[in-house]
Amino acid sequence: MTSAIQGMTHVRLSAPDLGRMQAFLEDFGMALAHRDEKRLYMRGVGDSPFLHVTELGEPGVVSFGYQLRDPSLLDEVAKLPGAQGIESIDAPGGGKRVRIVDPNGFTLEFMAEQERVPTLQPRVVVRGADGESRVLGAARVVRIAHTAYATPNLADMIDWYQRTLGLLPTDELFVGSRDNVIGRFSRVDLGDELVDHHVIFLLRGARAGMHHVSYQVEGVDDIFFGFDHMTRQSHDHVRGIGRHALGSQIFNYWMSPFEQMHEHWISHEKMNAQSRFNDIQIGEGMSYDTGERPPERFVKQATPIVAWRN
Ligand SMILES: [Fe+2]
Repeated sequence: MTSAIQGMTHVRLSAPDLGRMQAFLEDFGMALAHRDEKRLYMRGVGDSPFLHVTELGEPGVVSFGYQLRDPSLLDEVAKLPGAQGIESIDAPGGGKRVRIVDPNGFTLEFMAEQERVPTLQPRVVVRGADGESRVLGAARVVRIAHTAYATPNLADMIDWYQRTLGLLPTDELFVGSRDNVIGRFSRVDLGDELVDHHVIFLLRGARAGMHHVSYQVEGVDDIFFGFDHMTRQSHDHVRGIGRHALGSQIFNYWMSPFEQMHEHWISHEKMNAQSRFNDIQIGEGMSYDTGERPPERFVKQATPIVAWRN
């Protein structure tokens, strides 16, 4: 069965200061798409009208946004348990969406018919006649890749997400015995089309919340000069630069001023619907991770869920 979605469109966070969030995200590698008194929309260099929304409010996470594979699926999604009707989107790019609430009371937005925007100029890597070889400045975010979501009721949530989004299991992590699952990476099913290692990582946590949101940058170099730029601006670094052996993912993790973790990410490993599912004893595959061990606050991170506000 092919997935209802082909990937992510955005995350919607909540924060008490949109100006501070904008400054963090500009240093992280995004550009302003639109801002008013209540909402901040940020874009990347790609053709999506926005990749990140912040609503004015207490710090938290409001929703994950997914791109429907085809606009005709809006009708089908609207019939699923917990779904709202089809609504027009009042945001840059317009379009339509259906909202569904998951078993933790967390909202998902299934998006369709958003207008594309012109892409931003690629970075020039040819040295000019009077140039020099120092690339400095913010990384360039291309697209949103995935989220990680901590939850106490892991088995039920894995089942719910797999059914609702039509995902395929990529890798599952267990401790001790095989039934002691602590997390599962799931990917989009687009048949032979190549997709990322995961669009969501569901992991066991003491309380439900977003562990992190991940943004793909233009090239691996972005992760390095982005690190330099974020450090110069005194942003809160959590973990990295490193590489996860699973999915060959090069990463660097940053905390927003409101305790929401954002990942700079790039990977050259791709999957299709035939790629094998593996269950992996933790310590085995993960021990091949490059970089320092994750700090305590990385492991325990869970940005609290904020209810949808109209
Ligand atoms: Fe990630």
